[in-house]
Amino acid sequence: MAEKWEEIDRYARQWIDEAGKRIRASFAKQLTVEAKENPNDLVTNVDRAIEQFFAEHIRRQFPSHRLLGEEGFGDRIDALDGVVWVIDPIDGTMNFVHQRRHFAVSIGIFEDGIGQLGYVYDVVFDELYAAQKGRGVFLNGEPLGLLQPAPVTESIIAINGTWLMENKRLDHRPLMRLAKEARGTRSYGSAALELAYVAAGRLDAYISPRLSPWDFAGGMILIEEAGGMVTTLDGKPLDLLGRNSVLAAKPGVHEEILRRYLHY
Ligand code: IPD
Ligand code: CA
Ligand code: CA
Ligand code: CA
Repeated sequence: MAEKWEEIDRYARQWIDEAGKRIRASFAKQLTVEAKENPNDLVTNVDRAIEQFFAEHIRRQFPSHRLLGEEGFGDRIDALDGVVWVIDPIDGTMNFVHQRRHFAVSIGIFEDGIGQLGYVYDVVFDELYAAQKGRGVFLNGEPLGLLQPAPVTESIIAINGTWLMENKRLDHRPLMRLAKEARGTRSYGSAALELAYVAAGRLDAYISPRLSPWDFAGGMILIEEAGGMVTTLDGKPLDLLGRNSVLAAKPGVHEEILRRYLHY
């Protein structure tokens, strides 16, 4: 059993490494940028090529595995049986296009719905956050410790400014109060990186009202392995087959945000 995951882990790392090289090499070439659902929802030729790269390798090496990916090169998945790779080839495409940094490759590998391997790779910083179920979280091979509880008043909370203003998705008032009472707030523009930062203790919580499975799959496995919690904003487990609100945090902070700010 363990050997099976060792082998999958080896291939995943090899492909992530190669994907990183291809993405860095793409900086020297012309980028094709298109809008998807709205003018700010961007996708590039590189997002597509990298997902296709993973899809081809997974199908060749592990024909029984399935892939759920953002850009449509994966399988149609309506149940989580067997081994499923949940991949975001570039998380933070807007940053990739505008800033050429602060984006990541995100992969979560699940068996029968249980997270077994998680990776978030910061391509420009060359930082690989990786976790294997039961073995802890590593940053470029160095173990990261278990997360320790902290109060909101000593926490840095990652949240996009949009959710602190009146908006159509959620009541912004409790989040405004949370932002005021926390030590500080941040927004990096890549859910996967922000989740990896929570796993690494660089952030204490991350909040989003609406993420897709590929945005959170890798980071969720990292955080759970680091002893943190990842739920919806009403404290329920995340559904890998649909969109979810996400509250990811250290143990004490997670409970305090739910109880004192979101009233669960
Ligand atoms: C987006 C990023 C962003 C989050 C959006 C996602 P993409 O992913 O994770 O931080 O706020 O909801 O869609 O499109 O860059 O892969
Ligand atoms: Ca996208
Ligand atoms: Ca994403
Ligand atoms: Ca993406």
